[in-house]
Amino acid sequence: MHTSHEARHTPQALAAPEWWRTAVIYQIYPRSFADASGDGVGDLRGITGRLDALDELGVDALWLSPFMVSPQKDAGYDVADYCDVDPLFGTLADFDELLAAAHARGIRIIVDLVPNHSSDQHPWFQAALTAAPGSPGRARYIFREGRGPEGDQPPTNWESIFGGPAWTRVTEADGSPGQWYLHLFDTSQPDFNWDSEDVREEFRRILRFWLDRGVDGFRVDVAHGMVKDPTFPDWTPDPQAASMGGDATPAPYWEQVGVHDIYRDWNRLLAQYDGDRALCGEAWVSTIEKTALWVRPDEMHQTFNFHYLETPWDASALRRTIDDSLTAFSSVGAPSTWVLSNHDVVRHATRLGLTAESPQGAGIGPDSPGLPDRSQALQRARAATALMLALPGSAYLYQGEELGLPEVLEIPDDARQDPTWFRTSGERYGRDGCRVPIPWEAHAPAHGFSATGRSWIPQPQGWGEYARDGQRHDADSTLSMYRRLLALRRTHRLGEGSVEWLDVKDLLGAEAAEVLALRNQGVVVLANLGADPVALPAAATVLAASTHLPSAQHGVERSSVGGAAALLPSDAVVWLVSPESPEFS
Ligand code: NOJ
Repeated sequence: MHTSHEARHTPQALAAPEWWRTAVIYQIYPRSFADASGDGVGDLRGITGRLDALDELGVDALWLSPFMVSPQKDAGYDVADYCDVDPLFGTLADFDELLAAAHARGIRIIVDLVPNHSSDQHPWFQAALTAAPGSPGRARYIFREGRGPEGDQPPTNWESIFGGPAWTRVTEADGSPGQWYLHLFDTSQPDFNWDSEDVREEFRRILRFWLDRGVDGFRVDVAHGMVKDPTFPDWTPDPQAASMGGDATPAPYWEQVGVHDIYRDWNRLLAQYDGDRALCGEAWVSTIEKTALWVRPDEMHQTFNFHYLETPWDASALRRTIDDSLTAFSSVGAPSTWVLSNHDVVRHATRLGLTAESPQGAGIGPDSPGLPDRSQALQRARAATALMLALPGSAYLYQGEELGLPEVLEIPDDARQDPTWFRTSGERYGRDGCRVPIPWEAHAPAHGFSATGRSWIPQPQGWGEYARDGQRHDADSTLSMYRRLLALRRTHRLGEGSVEWLDVKDLLGAEAAEVLALRNQGVVVLANLGADPVALPAAATVLAASTHLPSAQHGVERSSVGGAAALLPSDAVVWLVSPESPEFS
């Protein structure tokens, strides 16, 4: 069993309480990260081969989206065997090698756990299909009789998150039309019945399997689901609410109190291991205050702060979300997390420039309304990242955002893979646009993703311009900005700090309603979300900026602004420090 790691690079970090309180965690979507086998789908050996780049970036941990045995109907979130690696991604030995190589660099690894549902190819579901209605073989999933005299109407009116009905009728062993099973996602993803002790025990076994191999924790899929209202009432979602959950009035399958007992059980199980193993919940919950219930001291350790991801690019809205997050999470002794992108949402280098709303998971395509100007949206995304990485707590990055990758719009219809696209007959584009294999080298086949040039979703024209090799030695690149911010975040121990809001008028000598100013561990962060540039305080020293600062020496750490007041442009963020901190004057 693996024991505790050396914390990365700084001896101070060794003294820090638990690593996950302050960690920057980089999400790897294995299908699209790096393909060592050349079949066009990324794999575990591909990740191992690219670890140096992540070490250089300066992240603390990796979260790997599912690589377990799966028919890949939902890109691996449909698991048929939770304790083995799908041959598409390699072998358990490849996983052990990756884990050892990451740990040797002081990088932790958390893996994805999918407990709400399995694949329909899971042996338990296959057994349930041939088992008799009401038998123990069916009791591990949610089977119900249909409504109506013939039982040919689904048991409830619930809709699948991917579109279409959430129930599918089976044919019984004798050939007659039979019961219905629940699948909140695709037909191929039947929901487990968490009232079943078999299910509970099986997931304890799965947790131990990966903990014994040495993983540092789990990202828990659909952590707001799993337990359903036992009365199974009909329910109609609010059409304005997010499609991945998070409605103001929770659905009878989200946010049920029974889920908390499961996490208490898992918390106790993880506590039997050394090294501060952690659970991070993917819980789309209606309010920040309720989200904090997932991270009470005896439950999960972290939960994604999707409220932050969903906050518009607006100064007062962001300030409110930051305050509400810090208050809610600290009230239960948990760190806040921060996240802007993942494999389910439109990449923030596009999303923050959209003028029309794009509900979670719905995606966008070439004919979507309100598409942004690409360079302006990137400017905003860089600013958003610079603000996020200044905040105390733990931050999540999604592969490729450090390259400034936009959402890919031009995916041919016949190359689309997301079940959302198929289940809505193309009405919703789905999530393929944020899952396109990432570029490593501008001039290599598939831009370095695979030596054969194959790529499971085609890379678009111009993808090479974002390649890592071209950005590495360009001080103004998005990659260089991420590296600089992550290094400074570590040096100044911003993850352990706190937010103190500063009076913008005092600082800048003028009112600026769309400017946010905060101090964390002596670093002053100014975010200009307004349309006009603002003059920076003359005595300050620029640590980092999300963009070129007119009349400041940009790109060099600790380049003094000196007497010439630099300007902070619109949609830009700067990190400042002064020897006389906290006051600049
Ligand atoms: C959330 C995952 O992030 C998403 O990709 C997946 O489709 C659903 N859960 C279902 O597992």
